Amino acid sequence: MYLILLGPPGVGKGTQGVLLADATGWERVVTGDLLRTAKDAGTPLGQQAQQYMTAGDLVPDHLIIKMVEEKLTTLPVGTGVIFDGFPRTREQASAFKMMLQPLGRSIDGVVVLDASDEVLTERISGRRSCLSCGSVYNMVLAPPQREGVCDNDGTSLFHRADDHPDTVQNRLDVYRRETEPLIAYYEGSKSTVYHVPSDGGVDEVQGEVRRALGLDE
Ligand code: AP5
Repeated sequence: MYLILLGPPGVGKGTQGVLLADATGWERVVTGDLLRTAKDAGTPLGQQAQQYMTAGDLVPDHLIIKMVEEKLTTLPVGTGVIFDGFPRTREQASAFKMMLQPLGRSIDGVVVLDASDEVLTERISGRRSCLSCGSVYNMVLAPPQREGVCDNDGTSLFHRADDHPDTVQNRLDVYRRETEPLIAYYEGSKSTVYHVPSDGGVDEVQGEVRRALGLDE
């Protein structure tokens, strides 16, 4: 299964992606995490991406497409993959389709998560993340057992620079303008699009995602 998780910042793509990967053994390709790792490592890609990420803007398509092409070559053959945060523009979606063709793959499903802007803002403002294992917490809604430390591997949690309120509104605007139109694009293609309302709790949303994908049957 090649699955896209599509939705606005803070809706729970990372949270749901980790749970789904744990349940299925599928790999995750998370463009935001790949970029943050590149930024922390000071690679040329990370240096080029930094200004866009800090402002809450999209990193240019050609950089993202090259990064995902390279990532695809590292994935085990035949494994399922959850794409979180990619594609985000029409150009990325077209390039993605082209890069999957030689692999004999296509997008099998698109899970669209959505919630109100109030819920998204609340979730983002309390988020803390583990760069080591990808686990995501919320200081109010889903705190770790020990403050500031990942439950899984004891790594110190960090507060993303782009989670500050000034940047969050721009990220929401960019999503509605650039990425939300991809829902109609995929609805007009052969991919199956599953709409999962995501205002509810983490387990409730995960149950809905798995039901939509027919994983609990
Ligand atoms: P990225 O890292 O992909 O950020 P995003 O899409 O803005 O999404 P988030 O990571 O903010 O949210 P999420 O939906 O994963 O929610 P989460 O599970 O963490 O991208 C960052 C930047 O990188 C972009 O702005 C751009 O600059 C660049 N970039 C990345 N990909 C790109 C691309 N393809 N093209 C161009 N540029 C790109 O949950 C959020 C919080 O809510 C957490 O605290 C969590 O604990 C809590 N929570 C989650 N679900 C629930 C729930 N059901 N109930 C209660 N709390 C919940």
